[in-house]
Amino acid sequence: MVRLAVALVVAACLAACSDKPEPYQWNLPYNIPEPVVPADNPMTKEKVALGRALFYDKALSVNVAQSCASCHKQQFAFAEATRHSTGTTGDKVERNALALVNVAYNGSLTWAHQGLEHIEQQLMIPLFNERPVELGVTGSEGIILARLSSPYYQFLFEEAFGDPEPSWDHIVKALASFVRSLVSFSSPFDHYAYGGQDDALSEQQIQGMNLFFSERMECFHCHGGVNFTQSSKHAYQQLDLRPFHNTGLYNEDGKGAYPESDQGLYTVSFNKADMGKFRAPTLRNIVVSAPYMHDGSVATLAEVIDIYAAGGRGEGITNPHKSPFIKGFSMTDEERDALIAFLQSLTDQQFLHNPDFAKPKTQTFRQND
Ligand code: HEC
Ligand code: HEC
Repeated sequence: MVRLAVALVVAACLAACSDKPEPYQWNLPYNIPEPVVPADNPMTKEKVALGRALFYDKALSVNVAQSCASCHKQQFAFAEATRHSTGTTGDKVERNALALVNVAYNGSLTWAHQGLEHIEQQLMIPLFNERPVELGVTGSEGIILARLSSPYYQFLFEEAFGDPEPSWDHIVKALASFVRSLVSFSSPFDHYAYGGQDDALSEQQIQGMNLFFSERMECFHCHGGVNFTQSSKHAYQQLDLRPFHNTGLYNEDGKGAYPESDQGLYTVSFNKADMGKFRAPTLRNIVVSAPYMHDGSVATLAEVIDIYAAGGRGEGITNPHKSPFIKGFSMTDEERDALIAFLQSLTDQQFLHNPDFAKPKTQTFRQND
């Protein structure tokens, strides 16, 4: 029965879908450049559809308990409302889950790694990492592939790759394509800055925007550009920008050490000057992705701003590796409120409620899902 059903679906498709796979249509404002996509994984509608199904499917974890979406929830801009994440078998993941917002534009991936350029590479971590275990695929590769050999997936794999049999190469390519499709450029700020809608921002938000882009507050030096992070790449940008900064959150030994649990770029470069350096994340949809910073140690935006105003946090203020742009500034309460109001204008309701990014309704999930 199952075989027959698949044969019928495939036959129907061969007749009706001869123009597949279809190139993916980016839903971008006309003045936003397309992101760079790896040549060996071009975007197609079918790959994004398969990636979306996989992103929400707990079958991808060893014990069928977690999916990508367990740590990356749409209502929180695909971040998680906890300080740090917990893997599918209970392992503590030290870092705060990153929001998946315009990841396609990031010059480097994760909070601090200069060698991870492509989403395809980065995804090996949650899938296969053993310390800590996130989805815990390692050692269960075959079992998980067998779970994905249902008629539903055979149809989706066939559509996306011309081969109904699931493979890890195709799973990773499809997941990366779905993550690339998560673009957010419909916030009130975008309507104001790129859509020519002068009334999209309130007066208070415009005041906050001017503070954000001021030499006094310096935010734009690290959170500048179309994606509110200096660490960006897109179709018209030739420069390869992958900067990392120490923002003075810690200074454990008076010589600049960050807590051993997470020392930022130093952990991968072993260069002392990289101690406590992290990528400046995008600030798009920042209101919904609390708590903040690599370890989720800051609860609110007001606190974040107070830390910048003080030039760091506690003894971190004297961290010798701190960026020269974290020099502290004075502000009135009214100015702080205006800056927060501006950050609120980066919230894109269309992104947070886009049905194309939500769990697919057509999928027949397992009973225990
Ligand atoms: C156990 C929780 C957890 C699971 C499950 C998980 N992630 Fe993540 N994800 C994180 C954390 C934490 C980070 C930040 C990691 C770091 O900086 O080292 C992250 C980072 C990322 C990034 C990097 C984003 C950027 O801007 O650099 C991508 C992309 C991503 N995850 C996609 C996925 C996908 C796709 C899956 C499913 C295969 C997945 N994640 C499963 C917690 C998780
Ligand atoms: C020197 C570069 C630099 C400057 C200047 C800077 N930031 Fe950041 N910002 C970063 C980095 C790096 C991080 C991540 C730090 C970490 O997790 O340890 C960050 C994190 C943040 C976060 C938390 C993001 C998240 O997803 O958790 C917010 C909010 C933020 N910055 C806002 C601002 C504002 C507002 C200003 C201006 C007052 C500003 N930043 C100035 C580099 C900078």
